[in-house]
Amino acid sequence: MERREKLYEGKAKIIYATDDPGKTILYFKDDATAFNGAKKGTILDKGVINNKVSARLFKLLAENGIESHFIEQLSEREMLARRVEIFPVEVVVRNRIAGSLAKRMGREEGPELPMTIVEYYYKDDDLNDPMINRDHVLAFNLATAEQIDEVRETALKVNEVLKNYMFERDVLLVDFKLEFGDCGGRILLADEICPDTCRLWDRQTLEKLDKDRFRRELGGVEEAYLEICRRVCGEI
Ligand code: TMP
Ligand code: ASP
Repeated sequence: MERREKLYEGKAKIIYATDDPGKTILYFKDDATAFNGAKKGTILDKGVINNKVSARLFKLLAENGIESHFIEQLSEREMLARRVEIFPVEVVVRNRIAGSLAKRMGREEGPELPMTIVEYYYKDDDLNDPMINRDHVLAFNLATAEQIDEVRETALKVNEVLKNYMFERDVLLVDFKLEFGDCGGRILLADEICPDTCRLWDRQTLEKLDKDRFRRELGGVEEAYLEICRRVCGEI
């Protein structure tokens, strides 16, 4: 399958058309941004790692009955995927207090939550992706009630599968962000699942093995991404 015209370029990926109108090619870049693009940089071979980790995790989810846009990995930086119309809602699932939740609630990072939290964010860079709730999703026609309920249910299932898989590999799945899209009336999990979009801590030391190393200038960014790739994919 060959790349045709560029459909969209985001901060971390480029989406290309293919000869098949139902399929796209995702090209994973090394570009890294944080704080809605305010901080910019590159992480060496991030695109290669994020493509590989996403492919492994989308396959794992498929094995567990959760379909996604993923079809196959084409090359080091390219993934073949079903063409979807992305919902303008980012879904964040949280198992522990960290990041913006710690800030919003005035708590330290780390503790496990007594229940999983699902949050929605309106995907709009100009507005800085504000947090919204289910009513906003419905009132602003971002998705139907059936769609957002299915999205929430799928997000919780994804959490169960990924949390267990990570734990077996000595990684705590602290939180993560998912995106979904419409594929001819069907809701599909889309985008990527990788150290850019998840908080992943070493189970013993609680060392951060994800994009927070870049966001917070902790150093050892490439090493952390490689370590996650090794643990998730079994080799590099
Ligand atoms: P937050 O604590 O900053 O709200 O982030 C929650 C999770 O979502 C975390 O795993 C990182 C991920 N995330 C993204 O993938 N993209 C984003 O733009 C943001 C802000 C967070
Ligand atoms: N995706 C966000 C940005 O574009 C950053 C983040 O992941 O924190 O800057």
